[in-house]
Amino acid sequence: MFEVKEKPEMVERALLVRISLNRREQAEDEALLEELEELVNTLGIGIQETMLVHARSEHKKFICGTGKADEIAAYAKAIECDVIVFDNMLAPMQQRAWEGISDITVIDREEVILDIFAGRAQTKEAILQVELARMQYALPRMKKMWGHLDREGGGGVGGGGASRGMGEKQIEVDRRLARDRINRIKDELATVRKQRKTRRKDREKYSVPHGAIVGYTNAGKSTLLNKISGSDVMAADMLFATLDTTTRRIELPDGQPLLVTDTVGFVRNLPTRLVEAFKATLEEAVLADFLFHVLDASNPQALKFYETTIGILKELGADDKKMITVLNKVDLVADTAHLASLHENLPNTVQISAVTGAGLDKLEEKCTELLMERIQVNTYCIPQSKGNLVSLLHTEAKVLNVDYEGANVIIQAAVGSVIAGTLKDYHDPDAPRATTAG
Ligand code: GTP
Repeated sequence: MFEVKEKPEMVERALLVRISLNRREQAEDEALLEELEELVNTLGIGIQETMLVHARSEHKKFICGTGKADEIAAYAKAIECDVIVFDNMLAPMQQRAWEGISDITVIDREEVILDIFAGRAQTKEAILQVELARMQYALPRMKKMWGHLDREGGGGVGGGGASRGMGEKQIEVDRRLARDRINRIKDELATVRKQRKTRRKDREKYSVPHGAIVGYTNAGKSTLLNKISGSDVMAADMLFATLDTTTRRIELPDGQPLLVTDTVGFVRNLPTRLVEAFKATLEEAVLADFLFHVLDASNPQALKFYETTIGILKELGADDKKMITVLNKVDLVADTAHLASLHENLPNTVQISAVTGAGLDKLEEKCTELLMERIQVNTYCIPQSKGNLVSLLHTEAKVLNVDYEGANVIIQAAVGSVIAGTLKDYHDPDAPRATTAG
């Protein structure tokens, strides 16, 4: 089977470069470089130096001009780097051009993110999604990866010219293998997704309300899900700790059940390929009744993160969902004016700490408020022989009162529209109010 080359295992000292085409975006450029540092650190690659380079206009070959490119390549050699990581997305041709002038491995932000994702994926679907994205990224770059075979075969790096090296033939074979593999992954993904759809349908059968947690990577989404559900989804101080969606059932203080799903974290300049790849997983967000948009309120960049997430939700067609903006990590906030401004300016905010639990009661209140309109309080008169319907109310609704009348159970319950539909034949609008608390 075709294997994508694992560069990070081979490189140790990186020069990080961002080529900016706009001097007025200095703060934004620096923030992006900082984020790239974190991403590269996540891969365990040491960082020698970071460089912000300005170019007056975009050049086809190196993004910046040739003179500047020569300088960067020479500098990378002088400080003995074995990899140059670009924050800019590089086209395959640009990546080859940079490797050509520097003789150093060159990767870009997309490849870094793909490699992180590859290390994190756990469920079959996530593994397949990442593999698909990596194969699609690698396919047009395969020539570069097989350059060493060309050298062995007598051709120059990248082959071509009079002597077509062995590597070039190998490339043809591997390209075909890669295309076959891509098609097989797509088929496998289709099967896995069908199974997930069936699981979701099962879940939706009784329409327990559903909230999806979305937000920037490291915002505290998994920590929040753990805290409110008492579960142990992996929460870690690393980027993209969660690649798979996890759904937990919780109970709001008024007894109403709620399904909560944790989703993959977003990041600025998330490769479109990955957004595409994860669209199916993120469907959970699209199909949820509402979204918890979690923000790390202690991060000065919080507003940027907010905008990035909204942008990706737009791409997914989920930006019109009802949303609670969860200002998380308030226990770490030093700049209270910044927190107050986020609270003021973002919609439907609540301040919490998913670690200390502060503010979670307010968050639950907000959920209850959002769900109010889906709920109706009805009284049902159900024959005791229909135990399945009685347990349906106990598991999928909030039972308020239970009483017995002959062979019937009289249950007053707050129910969602689907349960109300399922039990409409037992709805008794004239039933006397039951007196025993359920
Ligand atoms: P991704 O999987 O990358 O999308 O991250 P995530 O949003 O799921 O974040 P996660 O829950 O993994 O938390 C990231 C880090 O922030 C962990 O070290 C958490 O312990 C920490 N963290 C989360 N919430 C809080 C909080 O309210 N206060 C403090 N002090 N730390 C928090």
